[in-house]
Amino acid sequence: MELWDLYDIDGNRTGEVIERKPGSFKKIPDGSYHMVCDILVQHTDGTFLLTKRHPEKDVYPGYWEASAGGSAIAGESPVEAAKRELFEETGIKSDNFELVGVIHRCQNHGVFYSYLVVTDCAKDSIVLQEGETTDYKWVSKKELIEHVDSEESIKTHNGRYKALFNRYRAELASEQYQNVLLVNACVREESRTRKLAEEILKDLGGLYTEVKPQTEVSCIRNEEFITARTRDTAQGTLDREKYFSAYQFAEADVIVVAAPYWDLSFPAILKAYFEKINVLGITFRYSPEGVPIGLCKAKKLIYVTTAGGPIISDELGFGYVKALAENFYGIKDVSQVKKEFLDI
Ligand SMILES: Cc1cc2nc3c(=O)[nH]c(=O)nc-3n(C[C@H](O)[C@H](O)[C@H](O)COP(=O)(O)O)c2cc1C
Repeated sequence: MELWDLYDIDGNRTGEVIERKPGSFKKIPDGSYHMVCDILVQHTDGTFLLTKRHPEKDVYPGYWEASAGGSAIAGESPVEAAKRELFEETGIKSDNFELVGVIHRCQNHGVFYSYLVVTDCAKDSIVLQEGETTDYKWVSKKELIEHVDSEESIKTHNGRYKALFNRYRAELASEQYQNVLLVNACVREESRTRKLAEEILKDLGGLYTEVKPQTEVSCIRNEEFITARTRDTAQGTLDREKYFSAYQFAEADVIVVAAPYWDLSFPAILKAYFEKINVLGITFRYSPEGVPIGLCKAKKLIYVTTAGGPIISDELGFGYVKALAENFYGIKDVSQVKKEFLDI
C-alpha cells in the first residue's frame, strides 16, 4: 500500500494521508495537494535521457518522457522523492538536483516539483523499472526540443519545464535568452488585461513563464509563517523548494505584471503574491543603514492593466508596484501599459 501526504498551498503537510489508488486524487479536498516530482536528466556530454513509459500505464501509456518522475511517498521531502524515483526508474544515483519549477495544478490536486539533474553516469548503465519503463535513449538538445514540440510529448510535463525549455530553444536559435516572467493576476476567462499583456509578451519574443497568484499563492494569515521566514532568513536556510516563487521572481530578466483594475487598484491576490516574494535574502536585502537594496536580476518591469472606466489615480495600482520594484527589487525601468474606459 502506497500512502501520500497531503500538503497545503504553502507546501506544509496538512496531516492528512491518503492511499494511492487509481483516481484517488479525486478524493483530495480542494486546497490540498499531493506531491509529484519530475526529473530531467542531462549527461555531462550535453545529451538528455528519454525513457519510454510502460504500455499499461494508466496515463500516457507508451509515451517517451524526459526523463523520470512520480508521486512522493508519505514522509518524503520533494528532493528525497525525486532521488528515489530517479533511482527506481533509471538506476541513476545523484545528489545534483537543481529545482527549476514548482507548479500547483488544481485539476488533479498536484503540486509538481521539477528538477534538472546533470550526471556523468555510464550512458549504457540505465536500469529500466519493471512495469514503469520499457526503453530509453539519449538525445541531443535539438532532439529534446523537437520531441517536446511534437504531438508525441506530454504537454503537461512540458509546461512544468517551460522556462528551461525556452532557454534551450533560444540557445538552439543562437538568440540571446531572456527569462520573461508573466505574473498573471487576471481572473476572467476572456480577460482583456491578459490579452493586452499577450501583445507585450509577443514583442518580448513570445517565450515566457507564467505564475498565477490565484492558484499558486495564499495570503500570509498567521504569525507562525512570519516567524519561520524570519528564522530561515537569519539562519540562511532559504530553501529553494520552500521559497521557489521568490527565487523565480529574483531570477527573471523581464517581469510583466498583468492586473485588471479592481476597486481603484488591483486584485488582492496580487498583494498576497508580493507579500510572499518579498523575502529578505532573496528579492532584497538591507544596507547597514536600513535601506532596502534590490537583489532581483530584472532590468525591466511592465505593469499591464485595463479598466472599465477611468483609472482615477495611477498611484493606487501601478504606483504601488513601481515603488516596490524601484525600492525593494532594484528594478529601474518600470512602466505601465493601460487601457481605460473599456465599458463606457
Ligand atoms: C471586482 C471588480 C472591481 C472593479 N472595479 C473597477 C473600478 O474600480 N473602476 C473601473 O473603472 N472598473 C472596475 N472594474 C471593471 C474592470 O476594471 C474591467 O472590466 C477590466 O477591463 C477588467 O479586466 P479583465 O478583462 O482583464 O478582467 C471592476 C471589475 C471587477 C470584477
